[in-house]
Amino acid sequence: MSAKLVAVIGATGTQGGSVVGALLAHGGYSVRAITRDTNSAKAQALKSKGVQVVFGSLTDEASVVKAFEGVYAVFGITVPFTNDSEELQGRNIVDAAKEAKVPLLVCLFDQKSEVDKYARSSGQPTVIIHTGVFMENLIKGHLQRDASDPNRWNLAYPVLRPDVPLPLLCVGGDLGRIVVSIIDHWEDDTWKAKLTKDVLVAAPHLASVNDMISTLKKPVYGLVNDGYLQYPQQTILEELGIKTTSFETYAQEKVLPYLQSNQ
Ligand SMILES: NC(=O)c1ccc[n+]([C@@H]2O[C@H](COP(=O)([O-])OP(=O)(O)OC[C@H]3O[C@@H](n4cnc5c(N)ncnc54)[C@H](OP(=O)(O)O)[C@@H]3O)[C@@H](O)[C@H]2O)c1
Repeated sequence: MSAKLVAVIGATGTQGGSVVGALLAHGGYSVRAITRDTNSAKAQALKSKGVQVVFGSLTDEASVVKAFEGVYAVFGITVPFTNDSEELQGRNIVDAAKEAKVPLLVCLFDQKSEVDKYARSSGQPTVIIHTGVFMENLIKGHLQRDASDPNRWNLAYPVLRPDVPLPLLCVGGDLGRIVVSIIDHWEDDTWKAKLTKDVLVAAPHLASVNDMISTLKKPVYGLVNDGYLQYPQQTILEELGIKTTSFETYAQEKVLPYLQSNQ
């Protein structure tokens, strides 16, 4: 029997890339990457690893239906800050999965609650993951070199008090394994019921800006502001047998080397 095919939206990006990496490491699935540019360097790199690379754009539903043909499971994301609403992108993913009769859609709409509701009411079998805050955000923007003192870094989370605990996930290291584990468990009815009942919260590590600063042991400061973020703690990862990266480990392996190499 041939391996089940898993299609990944955003395969050339952070989250989809993590899922593709975990699928390849698992070895039991065929992988199809969906991209708007099948000739890009990242698309070519995926091809060289044995990944099928096909065209698909979230604003063109017909292209997504075609990209989902023959697929067992889809990992989907929507993309913010473009001219095309995330709600439209999300609805296109759900509608295309339904039309292509995809047995499992695993989605990370990331608090885009209208799409969550749409997926829930569509009849498309869907597992919705909420990741919390990506640890990668530190390197991608929250840590900034001080304008007047190059030896100093600022840690800025503008709408948060520095003592508010944030639910954190190392997306590059952990999201892919979480998604693959969900796909692996899908044909077990007990798991299916559990995974579809509630949003899967995959952000087990809580750390406030103050915690992050003391972990990094760097002369950084938090931008203080009024704000409050509530997030339920992880519910299911332990049961799936997934150990995720702690902030301390991420800080040692990624953030401190980043700060040192940029001194
Ligand atoms: N919770 C958090 O802390 C946090 C942090 C960052 C991001 N996010 C969420 O993560 C998502 C972004 O994921 P990411 O960080 O993996 O993004 P990313 O690294 O910027 O990559 C974006 C991916 O989306 C694909 N893409 C863009 N527009 C597309 C379209 N119209 N049709 C099909 N594919 C398209 C790109 O593929 P091609 O260019 O190859 O087509 C690329 O692979 C968003 O939902 C964002 O809100 C959350």
